Amino acid sequence: MLKVFSLSFFILVSFLSSAQKNCPIIPRPLAVTASNNQFKLDRHTMIKFSDPKLTGIANYLKAEIKKNTSIELDAQPSKNSSFVSLVLLANKAQNNSSPEAYSVDMSKGAIVIASSSEAGLFNGVTSLLQLVRLAENKAGMVMLDCWQIRDAPGYGWRGLMLDESRHFFGLEKLKSLIDWMAFYKLNRFHWHLTDEPGWRMEVKKYPKLATIGGIGNFSDSSAPARYYTQEQIKELVAYAAERFINVIPEIDMPGHATAANKAYPAFSGGGSKAHPDFTFNPGKEETYGFLTDILKETASLFPASMIHLGGDEVNFGNQQWPLIPGVKSLMAEKKMKDLREVELYFMQRMADTLYKMNNKLLAWDEMADVELPRDKTIIMWWRHDKPEQFIKAMEKGYTTIACPRIPFYFDFVQDSSHKQGRKWQKAFAPLESVYAFDLSKFNLTAEKQKLVAGIQANIWTETMQNEKRLDYMLFPRMAGLAEAAWRSTSTPKDYGLFKQRLKDHLTLYANAGLYYFDPSAPTSKLEPLGPKK
Ligand code: ACM
Repeated sequence: MLKVFSLSFFILVSFLSSAQKNCPIIPRPLAVTASNNQFKLDRHTMIKFSDPKLTGIANYLKAEIKKNTSIELDAQPSKNSSFVSLVLLANKAQNNSSPEAYSVDMSKGAIVIASSSEAGLFNGVTSLLQLVRLAENKAGMVMLDCWQIRDAPGYGWRGLMLDESRHFFGLEKLKSLIDWMAFYKLNRFHWHLTDEPGWRMEVKKYPKLATIGGIGNFSDSSAPARYYTQEQIKELVAYAAERFINVIPEIDMPGHATAANKAYPAFSGGGSKAHPDFTFNPGKEETYGFLTDILKETASLFPASMIHLGGDEVNFGNQQWPLIPGVKSLMAEKKMKDLREVELYFMQRMADTLYKMNNKLLAWDEMADVELPRDKTIIMWWRHDKPEQFIKAMEKGYTTIACPRIPFYFDFVQDSSHKQGRKWQKAFAPLESVYAFDLSKFNLTAEKQKLVAGIQANIWTETMQNEKRLDYMLFPRMAGLAEAAWRSTSTPKDYGLFKQRLKDHLTLYANAGLYYFDPSAPTSKLEPLGPKK
């Protein structure tokens, strides 16, 4: 009885203390308790680490502290030293089964961050960095409230996609986005590099893809070519890897191929009035060779060993396929009934090509209908109005990622008063629905839950022709995304507390020069304009 009483008393006390003090970290850690101590971070603070492998993480922590507080941590122990210790646990059997789990224990003289993996330690480091950046910085000294944190992600895939075909942002902006992703423990950057308006990746074997296909964007079809050289791509991939973020390129096919077809019309399968030259030609053998060459170069640039091949909306522009002799004979030879079968055949072939390169395939949810190896294929559910595609993908045994338009397409507006972005009838994507998203309404069986790799938001950029507008659409929804992706269905959420935590994050955005949306004052800032057309 006494034990039960003291346990519930303990729970009550820790509940009260955490209720009184809202730990400012976003996403909110799984378990966090406050203690009354404070840790003084100043130039006498040292970073120690238990394994030479951790040098990169330690250097990152040091550099971020310098960048954000101007405090240069000490390299030599002295009698005033306090410590931040990074401890890689030999024993993998932490209480939590996630390899990314970590703990942070803070006391007056030491902060100990521990995990059984480097990715977990990095998560702990980002939690500490948030505490540092959100605390007051007085003349080279930051006093940190002490917390005991036990944390682990609900999902391993916490993604953000950026479409740079419609508008191109460039390496510096991308690095800044990667920094913010790391800040919020997002760990997959899906890079939509090819589509109708522009092709944005240098391919050595087919240079016109970039120099001709890179001309134009959604606002201006004759804007000078913008694309990433292979050196720049390697630079971004390395920058992201230092922050434990994998970069996954998307080379969209067989639709959304307009920019490629502008450069190499020989492989075009035609299009429609609204979407001219939209597809690759699935009835021409050389098309498969062309795309295989492109994918070989792509695979060599992206160590994540997974490539997104799109597969979406092919019916926007496959109307000319039946007129192509090669498609006709392919259909006759393979006894295909309709164009959908041609599309699926195409994707199966390109998927095989990828698998031979030891890459996994990602594809949009149209491809849940294709029969592909379950262990090498990941389906992204995007059509929120077709939840059956999400369920079908899992029923067929595919790993899936949930990124339904509502609420995860960040080109949708976030306030009813906004005019520049998309709406779906009256529906849009306010911060609260991003934050509160979970999969509980699907009542997924345990088997299906295991197939959900994670959550992702997608930034389509038809209406984002500049950084200001990109920032406005992304911040603070990125923080809401982080909460949705970090916590799977079982943990309760509290939007009021989230908004309290967010206040200080908005200050960080302002200090970083971001033109963010303030959900508490939706009309306080002018909504930046999108393109005129
Ligand atoms: C998509 O929005 N077409 C994936």
